Amino acid sequence: MKILLLGKGGQVGWELQRALAVLGEVVALDHDSAELHGDFSRPEGLAATVAAVRPALIVNAAAHTAVDKAESEPELARAINATAPAVLARCAAETGAWLVHYSTDYVFDGSGDAARDEDAATGPLSVYGQTKLEGEELIRASGCRHLILRTSWVYAARGGNFAKTMLRLAAERERLTVIDDQIGAPTGADLLADLTAQMVRTAMGSEIDLSGVYHAVAAGETSWHGYASFVIEQARQRGRELKVQAIDAVPTSAFPTPARRPHNSRLSTTKLQQVFGLRLPSWQQGVERMLTEIL
Ligand SMILES: NC(=O)c1ccc[n+]([C@@H]2O[C@H](COP(=O)([O-])OP(=O)(O)OC[C@H]3O[C@@H](n4cnc5c(N)ncnc54)[C@H](OP(=O)(O)O)[C@@H]3O)[C@@H](O)[C@H]2O)c1
Repeated sequence: MKILLLGKGGQVGWELQRALAVLGEVVALDHDSAELHGDFSRPEGLAATVAAVRPALIVNAAAHTAVDKAESEPELARAINATAPAVLARCAAETGAWLVHYSTDYVFDGSGDAARDEDAATGPLSVYGQTKLEGEELIRASGCRHLILRTSWVYAARGGNFAKTMLRLAAERERLTVIDDQIGAPTGADLLADLTAQMVRTAMGSEIDLSGVYHAVAAGETSWHGYASFVIEQARQRGRELKVQAIDAVPTSAFPTPARRPHNSRLSTTKLQQVFGLRLPSWQQGVERMLTEIL
């Protein structure tokens, strides 16, 4: 099977290069790939790429993920998060290919404290959330066979991440200040890539069309404050010397940002678990593994 992977250098894209390799021949592109067009800021060029590769599966890990920056460049965010995925979806519909795409908890307004399922009402608070929602809607409208995985708080061992930032600050300062009124589940890019490969295998082998949106996050929940505390405690247990004595919990309003973020990012994964027979490990399990890699 031929697989076209877009956004190969991102957190999830990098892990997908590994996880998809067992399913077929992967053609992996970034926005500056030399031979084939992979730049989502010029969406129409992607049709020629799909025509050249002729994949049975398209996996889109590219996105405009700079949530605050998106507020001041909505057209670029829309091109990358909505128009380009729509071009891929149109190509998939025309050729019968499957499309895998990722979306976000930011399509919701984050009110209340219950976990949302896939049918819950959307209400994005930011340009990022709005354009990601438009991307989902355009994929659905294309009629292509698709899996949209909505996830949250993605981290990877490679590149910068929240845990590394906390560890650096904890080594430099005696007090840290971390938000405690946003609740979600830190989810590893490696877990998402492995889920993707398993889901694709099942979906492509199924007589029933399993197309749809699936919430895909690690099990359990925490706040950014809880996440930071866990990372620092784990680092100390592994012998890392840290200066920090106190981690102060503060509300989101203590750190004003251009984009509004949902307070409640809890996503129910019951549908994914039931349809695909998969189990989601706890967020702590994934974060511990990542810490083993980076410490
Ligand atoms: N990160 C999160 O916390 C989070 C949470 C919920 C959902 N998601 C979703 O999960 C998916 C994967 O996210 P991620 O965390 O892996 O994001 P990421 O690390 O920011 O990766 C995004 C990728 O898209 C590429 N990209 C940016 N502009 C592009 C363009 N014009 N053309 C082609 N590629 C372009 C980036 O390339 P450069 O780095 O070279 O610009 C990067 O390789 C996305 O759909 C995202 O919306 C992420």
